[in-house]
Amino acid sequence: MRFPNKKRPGEVRDAIVNYLRTRPDGATVRQIQAEVAARLDGVPPSSIRSYLRLNTPTLFARMERAQYALNESLRGHPRPGSETAGKTLAPVELGNAMLVHEDCLKWLRAREPASIHAVVTDPPYGMFEYSDEQQEKLRSGKGGVWRIPPSFDGVKRSPLPRFTVLTPGDLRYLEEYFFDWARLLAPALVPGANVLVASNPLLSHVVSGSLARAGLERRGEIVRLVMTMRGGDRPKHAHREFDMVSVMPRSMWEPWLAFRKPIEGRVQDNLRKWKTGGFRRPSSEKPFGDVIASAPTRKQERALAPHPSLKPQAFLRQIVRGVLPLGEGVVLDPFAGSGSTLAAANAVGYKSIGIEKDTRYFELARIAIPRLTHLIPGATRTRRDKSSSGEASLFPSCEA
Ligand SMILES: C[S@@+](CC[C@H](N)C(=O)[O-])C[C@H]1O[C@@H](n2cnc3c(N)ncnc32)[C@H](O)[C@@H]1O
Repeated sequence: MRFPNKKRPGEVRDAIVNYLRTRPDGATVRQIQAEVAARLDGVPPSSIRSYLRLNTPTLFARMERAQYALNESLRGHPRPGSETAGKTLAPVELGNAMLVHEDCLKWLRAREPASIHAVVTDPPYGMFEYSDEQQEKLRSGKGGVWRIPPSFDGVKRSPLPRFTVLTPGDLRYLEEYFFDWARLLAPALVPGANVLVASNPLLSHVVSGSLARAGLERRGEIVRLVMTMRGGDRPKHAHREFDMVSVMPRSMWEPWLAFRKPIEGRVQDNLRKWKTGGFRRPSSEKPFGDVIASAPTRKQERALAPHPSLKPQAFLRQIVRGVLPLGEGVVLDPFAGSGSTLAAANAVGYKSIGIEKDTRYFELARIAIPRLTHLIPGATRTRRDKSSSGEASLFPSCEA
């Protein structure tokens, strides 16, 4: 066996710690050895055992049945992925949607194999903006990584997380997190299941690499054409001097990574057996495309579901409808937020499951899903308000 040894200092420790963050109930030495080997080349299994022994109890806690877990103080490290503090609320059914209050890694670990037909999700792009610490700062108006953009033409803007502040360590964490996430997700998916993951142009390469490394098959990217408030600014404190400079391109699109669990046999075999393996066309004349014009989420929609990262129904309904090629199966959103994906699934008549670990957003989603389900995108009323005559289209054309 080859054991090339030039490891970055702390690399083995980070690999063990990151893995154990996803296993709040602990893992056996053998499981830890296998996981570290999947991440890093050439770490002798015996060195993992000694590493665990030497760093217990500073970093690790020894549990019953020869399991190791992260020491309590690290478990409380304010990263998403740690357990939701406090009581777990009971799941709720809202139309065809099931909303679950849990950490998605824990939920995925217990999920029945081959029971999910597609994933549409908008995770925290940098994973740390939804940590308890950063959420507290956002809620108390302190900012933290959340930047409050200046008002524009008298209009107050919503806070935006800054991804330029991520350190190399944060990027490594992101990479590890999505690798673990995809490895837990894959067994729950049926072959051919589409996985659409919202990202950001600064970070999408990291997440994409992790999903591919975990065995999902990259199928491209869907470009949501949307004018954002990111980039384009002149240099801070020198904007007059460098009047003709934009430090970063003004971002006018949002990448949605498109992956798939590898299919079994030919596409038609997979479609027959699992009902998955392609995308549903908007019409027989029109293929499912990878550029979708969209508008920022409207004020009226944000009032129905006041989540800091709310995605618009007009866009979500198009992609949610598209991910089940035959319109059959269950769509999962493991980072459900206000439940906008579940509402979109309800609106197009699909079954869905959403997981949200934050109690406040779970409670918000419980109220917002029925409201968003009945929303007519672009109109000021909901479908429920509208009389039965002259039903509006679910998919009005959206402005770019
Ligand atoms: C970017 S937001 C999603 C917003 C959503 N697209 C919407 O329109 O409302 C990501 C959500 O994932 C939740 N989250 C973060 N880590 C999680 C985890 N490990 N399990 C479940 N939910 C998580 C956060 O609390 C947050 O509400």
